[in-house]
Amino acid sequence: MRFDMVIKNGAVVTATDTCAADIGVSGHKVSAIAAQLPIENAGKVVDAAGCLVIPGGIDVHTHLDMPFGGTMSADDFETGTVAAAFGGTTTLIDFAIQYKGQSLREAFDTWMKKAHDKAVTDYSFHCIITDLGSAQLEEMGQLIREGVTSFKLFMAYPGVFMLDDASIFRAMSQAAKHAGLICMHAENGGAIDVIVQRALAEGKRAPKYHALTRPVTAEAEATSRAIALAEMAGAPVYIVHLSCNEALEKVREARDRGLPAYAETCPQYLYLSLENFDVPGFEGAKYVFTPPLREKWHQEKLWQGLAQDTLQVVSTDHCPFCFKEQKELGRDDFTKIPNGGPGIEHRLSLIYTGGVHGKRFSANRFVELVSTAPAKLFGLYPRKGTIAVGSDADLVIFDPNREEIISAKTHHMRVDYSMFEGIHTTGAPRAVFSRGKPVIDAGKFVGRPGAGQFIRRQTYSRM
Ligand code: URP
Ligand code: ZN
Ligand code: ZN
Repeated sequence: MRFDMVIKNGAVVTATDTCAADIGVSGHKVSAIAAQLPIENAGKVVDAAGCLVIPGGIDVHTHLDMPFGGTMSADDFETGTVAAAFGGTTTLIDFAIQYKGQSLREAFDTWMKKAHDKAVTDYSFHCIITDLGSAQLEEMGQLIREGVTSFKLFMAYPGVFMLDDASIFRAMSQAAKHAGLICMHAENGGAIDVIVQRALAEGKRAPKYHALTRPVTAEAEATSRAIALAEMAGAPVYIVHLSCNEALEKVREARDRGLPAYAETCPQYLYLSLENFDVPGFEGAKYVFTPPLREKWHQEKLWQGLAQDTLQVVSTDHCPFCFKEQKELGRDDFTKIPNGGPGIEHRLSLIYTGGVHGKRFSANRFVELVSTAPAKLFGLYPRKGTIAVGSDADLVIFDPNREEIISAKTHHMRVDYSMFEGIHTTGAPRAVFSRGKPVIDAGKFVGRPGAGQFIRRQTYSRM
């Protein structure tokens, strides 16, 4: 048998198994896994001694080239997918936003154009619905048939993104009919807006008031309401960027009752806290995103949630805005600071460090959280999210002992600060392959813009 590439001497780690094995790659696919594969005729042999070989990371929550608050997120599909690849992520699911009066298809077409010539690795889209009439309800079924099988709805940002409960319930009922998955931004936007107006009237305008005007109860209430609406509609629900223990408890209760309720958290909620606002002047704007940072004690609850499967996924909610010029837009008023933070590059190393190196869970659970569970929930499995004969050869040679210090000076995201500046990590990718082709090798980008493909996803499957 002839292989285009053989990866030798690594420990192959999937969500379920760890074994010493060689991996044979033919074209875009994994074609053999065995204790010893012949290398005489191999196009290329890669030595993974001392490393784990894991399936490429899947980040199901990114915002590349996205308009927000009068500016655009700072990474486009080229810089964003390059930075993701440096961190071991080889598939993104970004969000195509339907604005008021638009069809869902217009949103999808717009984001396809943004990604097409730029993405260096594979991508797909959820559709954000902000205006739901009968035409858009009909379109949900059509998009699902075309591989856009999940939708994000907002319970926050009244007048911009927020949908009312009736529309949410209609969308969930339609998702139930077509096996789609609703992703929910769960915060009570109405109550938050009143609290925000009160704060502004009292002259509270600094960045930290973004966090202090978005209480945990607003997130817990909306999480509970989203789950109740989904239960009535007979639909699964996926809570995005869950940040606090109160919301986690709502998901736990639902799952204990056997409901198909799922949730993700993000590295910022595991590593950062309200204490990050104790910085001089306007620096706190670096940590303005939604939901906001919480008191430090929530972090350990979220790590436990990941270990116990109350949380199934770690995504990044990568939504970068430069500190200079972009975050600056809100210097005199926290409500004008573009919401979002950069994180696409460091998800795997941060979760490996805190999870596996920190002895909170196994390397298999790490793979499940960053690759396999996202693939299963969002219709990419088993093409992606595992290492098996017939799967795409999206592979990461991951050095579990490599130590790094995160810094804006060395990262590859197109943003002038890091949320995680100075954090020490243990474990980082050494080489990254997307459908069998090298993208990152020895610290260098070796891929090609436009090489990434749009992936038509299957419908959600229950986990
Ligand atoms: O602050 C955030 N999270 N910005 C991105 C939009 C969203 O709600 O996910
Ligand atoms: Zn959101
Ligand atoms: Zn987001």
